Amino acid sequence: MIEVRNLTKNFNGFRAVDHISFDVKRGEVFGLLGPNGAGKTTTIRMLATLTRPTEGTATVGNYDVVKDDDEVRKLIGLVSEKIIMYDRLTAKENLWFFGRLYGIPKEVLNERIDELLGLVQLGDWKGSQVGTFSSGMRQRMNVIRALLNMPKVLLLDEPTLGLDPQSSVEVREFVKKINREKKTTIILTTHMMVEADILCDRIGIMDHGKIAALDTSTNLKKLVSGDDTAILELEIANLTSNMIASIQSLKCVSSVSQDNSTHIKVHASGNGVFDTIIDAIRAEKGEINSVKNLEPTLEDVFLHITGHEVRDKADQKIPMRAHRRFMPRRRVR
Ligand SMILES: Nc1ncnc2c1ncn2[C@@H]1O[C@H](COP(=O)(O)OP(=O)(O)OP(=O)(O)O)[C@@H](O)[C@H]1O
Ligand SMILES: [Mg+2]
Repeated sequence: MIEVRNLTKNFNGFRAVDHISFDVKRGEVFGLLGPNGAGKTTTIRMLATLTRPTEGTATVGNYDVVKDDDEVRKLIGLVSEKIIMYDRLTAKENLWFFGRLYGIPKEVLNERIDELLGLVQLGDWKGSQVGTFSSGMRQRMNVIRALLNMPKVLLLDEPTLGLDPQSSVEVREFVKKINREKKTTIILTTHMMVEADILCDRIGIMDHGKIAALDTSTNLKKLVSGDDTAILELEIANLTSNMIASIQSLKCVSSVSQDNSTHIKVHASGNGVFDTIIDAIRAEKGEINSVKNLEPTLEDVFLHITGHEVRDKADQKIPMRAHRRFMPRRRVR
């Protein structure tokens, strides 16, 4: 459905998107996962014909985003980072307004609005002003607005940004539902590992304008949990900083992080890492209560591939330097 080849975008000499290539199959949910400034929105905007590539090509349904931009626009629905909705109009009036802008005939539009409102469980709210809606309800409205023209491809730029956990779950659920019931091909961007993991059939990990890795979540995780790599969680009753330092100094250990006063997480690789780590703790007279072999998360994958962590912006435990780097640029709502 979508073919991207060496797609590149420069802004005054700054390369925001750097020769990326990927395909998205019909009916697939494809995720672009990366921190602030990775180039996700710029990629979406090129696919949506809103900004022209500096180099490379992209096609949607075999139409070129530059040469056949009118055709591409007929195929896509775009949910951008900003919510465009009129607070004083009701849910139905808003959808009616945008539907008429798309040129959808009145006879069809009425029925479609009811169907879409039903799809996101807002049927009972159709006569209420959007200004009275919660942020989750507004975001659901934002997404169905993009579905009015029955797009074959839905482009979702950070669909759950700024939503509370409950609303995020709701939005994710109906994104899945749209994909399942309408067979819509979806590209979504996110900086949230969990979101990519839950929603996407395949994930492209983006960093500094490049796609650093691209595969299913399961396969990406195999990159960090091969036969000789492990992520262990240890509970040590009398944990001391000496023990942590001694584990850290082991050749097979790439990182140690302390979760609380008794729990540590160790990334290690090589033969017999398990015994080596246990021996090191015993040598420091550590009392080991439990050892768990953890399943890797996408966060571990990101760290492994890019050499740095991507953090949810809500996470305040980020060191100041990294924090500044991942701070939102224009996130005021
Ligand atoms: N119109 C523009 N002019 C100049 N630089 C831009 C423009 N749009 C984006 N950039 C820069 O390109 C880089 C990629 O931006 P982009 O918005 O695509 O990132 P993103 O991955 O969507 O990040 P975020 O998670 O913050 O939304 C950033 O460094 C940004 O400052
Ligand atoms: Mg963005």
